[in-house]
Amino acid sequence: MKKVFRKELMDLIPYKPGKPIADVQREYGLDKVYKLASNENPLGCSPKVKNAIINALDNINLYPDGNATLLKEKLSSITGFPTSQILPSSGLDEMIDQIAKTFINDGEEAIMSDHSFVRYIGTTKMMGGVPVIVPMKDGFVFDLDEMLKRINENTKLIWICNPNNPTGTMLSEDQVASFFSKVPEDIIIVYDEAYREFATHKDFPHDSLKFLRKYPNIIIMRTFSKVYGLAALRVGYTIASEEIIENLNKIRPAFNVNSLAQVAALAAIEDKDFVEKTIHNNNIGKEYLYKEFDKMNLNYALSQTNHIWVDVEKDAQEVFVNLQKKGVIIRPQVGNFIRVSIGLAEENEYFIKCLREELGK
Ligand SMILES: Cc1ncc(COP(=O)(O)O)c(C=O)c1O
Repeated sequence: MKKVFRKELMDLIPYKPGKPIADVQREYGLDKVYKLASNENPLGCSPKVKNAIINALDNINLYPDGNATLLKEKLSSITGFPTSQILPSSGLDEMIDQIAKTFINDGEEAIMSDHSFVRYIGTTKMMGGVPVIVPMKDGFVFDLDEMLKRINENTKLIWICNPNNPTGTMLSEDQVASFFSKVPEDIIIVYDEAYREFATHKDFPHDSLKFLRKYPNIIIMRTFSKVYGLAALRVGYTIASEEIIENLNKIRPAFNVNSLAQVAALAAIEDKDFVEKTIHNNNIGKEYLYKEFDKMNLNYALSQTNHIWVDVEKDAQEVFVNLQKKGVIIRPQVGNFIRVSIGLAEENEYFIKCLREELGK
């Protein structure tokens, strides 16, 4: 049977998402479980989104607008790029696959960092590409100089996530600008901004679109899953040159962004208050968690996202299982590192209480 499958699949493992709340409730007989594992929005989503979805329910017998025309037009008005340079997708997850399918030929290399979004590896391998994994520098930041050194005639693409998941760390405007200027223009740079709205640092490149105006080999990806709280609906978008968008669009599944997701994204854009509340909650939660980690003498990376990368000085897998038994789901990383999403005050406090018990601190 093995021979019927494409050879690339032999080396692939399925993506492991954060454990669902219901699974943990069932497994440990718990009523209350807090999920701080998937960088979701703890405030839910905007009430405006809920109304928009209710109004759109009457039409779910109809196929969605496959072109997502209204959403594209709205995104065009807020980015200043024409609709021909914008492509909505069923989350960035779908776009990451589409990018790999569009660019990576068998044996071509894709450069990425060792602690970055795990989907970059799988999708590169899926196309028969070779992931070139560059270790991070001290402080869990991308080693851009080393990434540049790893470019060769076989390099097709570079995956950059800023601010980064899972470390929460960022590249500054100057670092990004210098890197982009040094990458040859026939190499695609995928610039994943899933967490851009949470970045508060003054040196963060808040206006990444200016780089796209200068370098047509950049693909910028953004999502509605995080600050807008629409993770279940699956909607994100990509901005790139007309030529890149045209080619990505050739392999786009028809009707990829469903109609509820389209209206929800449009409504979410309008609710600036909700976005502000989300960012405010994140900033308060982040400061609280930093303070508590400091009290426990735990090392962590300063975060520009909605999650924190912490060294818990104990096997992360063990900590993950033990916290789950108490009703907290976090994400174990390599060695002693965990990634915890920033939640509501009561979630953060309960997580800290459980972590203290677990670590005896
Ligand atoms: C860095 C990064 N990129 C992309 C995604 C996928 O996001 P989406 O929900 O839009 O598929 C995630 C999801 O967690 C992410 O962390």
